[in-house]
Amino acid sequence: MVGVERFELPTSCSQSRRATRLRYTPKIVKLLVSKVGAHINDAPGLRQALCAGKCLWHPYYSLAVRVSRPPLTAFTIIEHIGPKAQACDNTPPKEFAITGITACRCRQPVTPSERVLMTAQLIDGKAISRSVRDEVAAGVSRRREQGLRPPGLAVILVGNDPASSVYVRKKREACEETGIIARDYSLPENTTQESLNQLVDDLNSDPEIDGILVQLPLPGHLDDDQILLRIRPDKDVDGFHPYNIGRLAQRKPELRPCTPAGIIRLLDSIKTPYKGQHAVIVGASNIVGRPMAMELLIKGATVTVTHRFTENLARFVGEADILIAAAGKPGLIPGEWVRPGATVIDVGINRTAEGKLTGDVVFAAAAERAGWITPVPGGVGPMTIAILLQNTLYAADQLHD
Ligand code: GUN
Repeated sequence: MVGVERFELPTSCSQSRRATRLRYTPKIVKLLVSKVGAHINDAPGLRQALCAGKCLWHPYYSLAVRVSRPPLTAFTIIEHIGPKAQACDNTPPKEFAITGITACRCRQPVTPSERVLMTAQLIDGKAISRSVRDEVAAGVSRRREQGLRPPGLAVILVGNDPASSVYVRKKREACEETGIIARDYSLPENTTQESLNQLVDDLNSDPEIDGILVQLPLPGHLDDDQILLRIRPDKDVDGFHPYNIGRLAQRKPELRPCTPAGIIRLLDSIKTPYKGQHAVIVGASNIVGRPMAMELLIKGATVTVTHRFTENLARFVGEADILIAAAGKPGLIPGEWVRPGATVIDVGINRTAEGKLTGDVVFAAAAERAGWITPVPGGVGPMTIAILLQNTLYAADQLHD
């Protein structure tokens, strides 16, 4: 029995004197209703199975769900019901409302042949990033209606790194789509530190520019830290400047690093409870791991950051209610490590020898255990760009007008 006791110990069931039967507290019942109900409402296959008398098995809560009584506008039972699931001939309704629960643990476990595994629900980064972009586009239109200039973003790319070129192109296209003016600076590989510094200085004092983005990594002869320090904090739409990192560390974020802020938006979209949850971050980079830890701390999660010197990574991953995989190592985390019911956010975007994009987590196996999971591609990636646009609008609205 994993999961339930971690939150709160069930009390003895008043309906049964049997020592093995336990009733859950209202708090746990509420949690179960939302988790299990969301699964069932979103999955026609699960509804069909339920109506065919199958017992739906939720490994995280060690619970089974069955229909209690027709008509199937409601079902009420979440329990280990063993092999006695009632067959049900009714047509499944579009949506189940869980109206009440008698939640008991039974001595007789559900046999594997009776189980229909509830696999993870996908967190659709494409759709959620679309809503962020729509919000930004609306904000840009509002500015125009008020007679204000559109926000301006300077995008600097030094050299010809193919992956960086793709990211930068996507950022420029996203700007155009939302009405943000993107100014391109594609500089040759042999650009000097002095000329790059000069460009940043010019953009710092340009009143039409709200955000400056220098795509990383820079070629080896250029100093990333020097450049990131040089960008004015109120134009640092990447959120990498020590001022903005300090604001985040002090729980007063202003321009927030894009990938972690995008992940928070994803987690918010599935109503992650945060408080009392253990968030485990794999990877301690300046761009993702460290600011991610600060974001999750602000939300009230208990945070562990693992890194290349961590011993027994599997142990930490197995304890995660929220797992953020940001190591940049394809397949580093086997699905079997994932805690049943966990939320898995895969930040890795790795290209295989065959040219396929893959994450840090072995997706198929993880999806059989997780409650929620992001795909690669289409999970975290689109959110980074959406938050960059949001930061640029924020800089124009709140820091420059
Ligand atoms: N390189 C990889 N990710 C990023 C990012 O979010 N911003 C910048 N500027 N460079 C990156």
